[in-house]
Amino acid sequence: MVERTLIIIKPDAVQRHLAGQIISRFEQKGLKVVAAKFLHISKETAEKHYAVHKDKPFFAGVVKYLSSAPVWVMVLQAEDVIKMTRKMMGATFGYDAEPGTIRGDMGCSRGYNLVHGSDSPESADYEIPLYFKPEEITNYDFADEKWLYGKND
Ligand code: RTP
Ligand code: MG
Repeated sequence: MVERTLIIIKPDAVQRHLAGQIISRFEQKGLKVVAAKFLHISKETAEKHYAVHKDKPFFAGVVKYLSSAPVWVMVLQAEDVIKMTRKMMGATFGYDAEPGTIRGDMGCSRGYNLVHGSDSPESADYEIPLYFKPEEITNYDFADEKWLYGKND
């Protein structure tokens, strides 16, 4: 089923000049960017974003991290995009993420982790409106969609 996910290229990725390489991986895979913006997330929005973790010991730290410097926020759309992007990101922190994944290849931190991706359709439905109005999400076809998504029919 075609679905959408919210991706954030986090403050450390922007500061470490890795944003283009991360976006490039999603682009190479054939995932469609349907919305994107560059912004400095407020503390209030970061608290809403990570509300599911509000009782965890790392909540204050992760809110501070997400709102510490500008980020790219984007909506990607494709069939099974949530499962694919989570696999591409790898385990939560780079020190134990598999090589070949974004987190596994680009970092070794135990606190920062370069990229966020929604973990379920319900999370995506909650997270996307925190950053985008419905009219900011585009709808278009790639010219090579037949070859990209073809099923040999
Ligand atoms: P994300 O939501 O950012 O895509 O990351 P995730 O699903 O892999 O990890 P999640 O469990 O949802 O945790 C959200 C963010 O909180 C920070 N965290 N710190 N110190 C800790 O044990 C700890 N655990 C999680 C990370 O920044 C993680 O991305
Ligand atoms: Mg998460």
